[in-house]
Amino acid sequence: MAVGIEGIDMSRVPAHVACVMDGNGRWAEKRGLARTEGHAAGEEALFDTVEGALEVGLSWLTVYAFSTENWSRPVDEVRFLMNFNEQILTRHRDDLNGKGVRILFSGRRDWRVPRRLLRHIEQSEALTATNRRMTLNFAFNYGGRAEIIDAVRRLVADNVAVGKVDDKAIRARLYQPAMPDPDLVVRTSGEYRLSNFLLWEVAYSEMIFTDVLWPDFRREDLFDAIREYQGRDRRFGGVQAKKRRGRGR
Ligand code: IPE
Ligand code: IPE
Ligand code: MG
Repeated sequence: MAVGIEGIDMSRVPAHVACVMDGNGRWAEKRGLARTEGHAAGEEALFDTVEGALEVGLSWLTVYAFSTENWSRPVDEVRFLMNFNEQILTRHRDDLNGKGVRILFSGRRDWRVPRRLLRHIEQSEALTATNRRMTLNFAFNYGGRAEIIDAVRRLVADNVAVGKVDDKAIRARLYQPAMPDPDLVVRTSGEYRLSNFLLWEVAYSEMIFTDVLWPDFRREDLFDAIREYQGRDRRFGGVQAKKRRGRGR
C-alpha cells in the first residue's frame, strides 16, 4: 500500500469521483440568507474540492451543477444559476487551464441555456481541450434519463441494427463516451437519492452520503470519502476478494 496524503492508499485512488452538490438552499436558510447566497458559497467548496482532487490525482471529477428538473425552480433562482455558472467559468478557467485541468460540460445544450453561457462553455472547453491532468466535468442541464433518451435517438438516427444494440453501442452515444464510470458518487446534505444523476454510469459505483451541506464541503471531506471507498469491497457481481477487507483504512 502506497500511503499518501491523509492515509489514502495512492495505488487505489478512484479514477472518477462524481459529486451531487446538494444543500446550498438549506445552508443559506439556516443563516437567514437568500437561497442564492448558498449557491454563491458553494463556489469555494467546489474549488477546494478540485484542489483536493488534483492532490490525490483523480482523473475525472464530475459535479452535478444543474439538473433537467431544476428548471422548475423560481425564475429568479434559475436566472441566478445561469449567470453564476457563467461567472464560475470566467473566474476559474484560466487557473484551471494553468493547472492542466480539462473542462467539459455534459447535458442538453438546448434553447433554454442562455446563448452567452453556451459561448463561455464552448470557449472554456476549447481552451482546455488538450489538458490531461484531470477532467472537470460539469453536469449541467443534465438528466440521466435525458442522456439515455439522447443516446437512443442517436442509435435510431445511425440506423443501428437491433442485434448491434449493446453496452458498447449505447456507451458510444452517451455525452462523454470516453469517460470512465464513476467509481465513487458522493452526495451531500443528507439526501439518499440520485436525482437523475448519471443513471447509466453508476451501475457499479460506490455511494457515499454525508450530512455536510455542500457550501461546507472541503477537500478533507473528499479525502474522508475516498478513505471510506478504499475500505469497501467492489465485487461487480463476482465473489468477494477477502484479502482486501479492511485495507486502506
Ligand atoms: C444544490 O443545492 C444546488 C442545485 C441544485 C443547483 P440546492 O439548491 O438543491 O439546496 P437545497 O437542497 O434546497 O438545500
Ligand atoms: C440534485 O439536487 C441536482 C443538483 C445538485 C444540481 P436537487 O436538490 O435538485 O435534487 P432533489 O430535488 O432534492 O431530488
Ligand atoms: Mg437540493
